[in-house]
Formats: sequence, structure tokens, C-alpha cells
Amino acid sequence: MLTSGIGPDAKGTQMELVKESLVLIHLAGMAVLVGVFLTGMKKKSDYPFTAMMWAAVVQLVTGILLVGIGYALDDEPDNAKIGVKFLLATAVLVATIIGRQRQAKGESKLQPFFHTAGGLATVNLVIAVLWNAELWAA
Ligand code: HEM
Repeated sequence: MLTSGIGPDAKGTQMELVKESLVLIHLAGMAVLVGVFLTGMKKKSDYPFTAMMWAAVVQLVTGILLVGIGYALDDEPDNAKIGVKFLLATAVLVATIIGRQRQAKGESKLQPFFHTAGGLATVNLVIAVLWNAELWAA
């Protein structure tokens, strides 16, 4: 229909828009996690655990929604890849929660929590981009 601008594919297009918006937020969360890790890698105190913790929550929520919308759009994700990404993102979240609590109590030796969270987030970035069956097909 010319007047309303809503054609037969409008629903699919709207879903695509929702999906791309989720990808946008997912990429922003990734940028926060990996960015604060790479720029703060040599830190010995004042780790940005709170920002990383919320970014990890964003990754888990947008990631799960992306899986759902992928099924809805008949664009099913690789379950093994998603399973690994989910476990790693959960580990990132746990490491930031523990690090944040310990930092709030004034404890020291927090670098392993920061490096675990940042390192696993970086591994997830590599998996997100390079774990692609088409890329490795003989
Ligand atoms: C630290 C955690 C995470 C990072 C750094 C990350 C990173 C990324 C990146 C960079 C992309 C874009 C890749 C590309 O389009 O080539 C992506 C896409 C995606 N991620 Fe994540 N991710 C994380 C966690 C998760 C989790 C927990 C899930 C699901 C439970 C998930 C599900 C997805 C899905 C389904 C897509 C594909 C979107 C599409 O079809 O375009 N991610 N992720």
C-alpha cells in the first residue's frame, strides 16, 4: 500500500530492524567490555568492574534475544557456538561480580578477576567473528 507504507513484508522488515538494533547494542556492550580491558590491562587498582558487570548483563540479554529473533527469522544460529559464548559470557559476569564485591571491601589481588573477565570477553569476540562454518569450509 503506497499510502501507509506498510507492504506485505513490513513485519519481516520490522523484525530485521529490531534485530539490527539489538546487534548495535550487543556491539556497544562488546566495545565496553573489550575496550576497558585493553586500555586498563596494566592497572593495579581501581578496576572498572561495575561497567564490565553491566556490559556483561547487556551481552547476555541482547545475545539471548538475538538467538530468539534468529529463530523467528528462520536464521538459526549455531547452537554449539552460542552455547560456548553463553558460558564464557556467564563466566565474565561472575568474575566481574566477585571482583566488584571484593574491591568494594577494599581487598587487594583483584587483577586476576579483571583479566579473567576481560580475557574471556576478548575470546568471545574472536569466537563471534571467526567461528563461522562457511569461513572454514574446505
Ligand atoms: C562477552 C560476551 C559477548 C561478546 C564479546 C559478543 C560479541 C559479538 C559480536 C562481535 C557479534 C557480531 C559478529 C558478527 O556479526 O560477525 C555477535 C553476534 C551475535 N552474538 Fe554475541 N557476544 C557475546 C555474548 C553473546 C551471548 C551470551 C549470546 C547468546 C546467548 C550471543 C549471541 C549472539 C548472536 C545470536 C549473534 C549474531 C547476530 C546476527 O545474526 O547478526 N552473544 N556477538
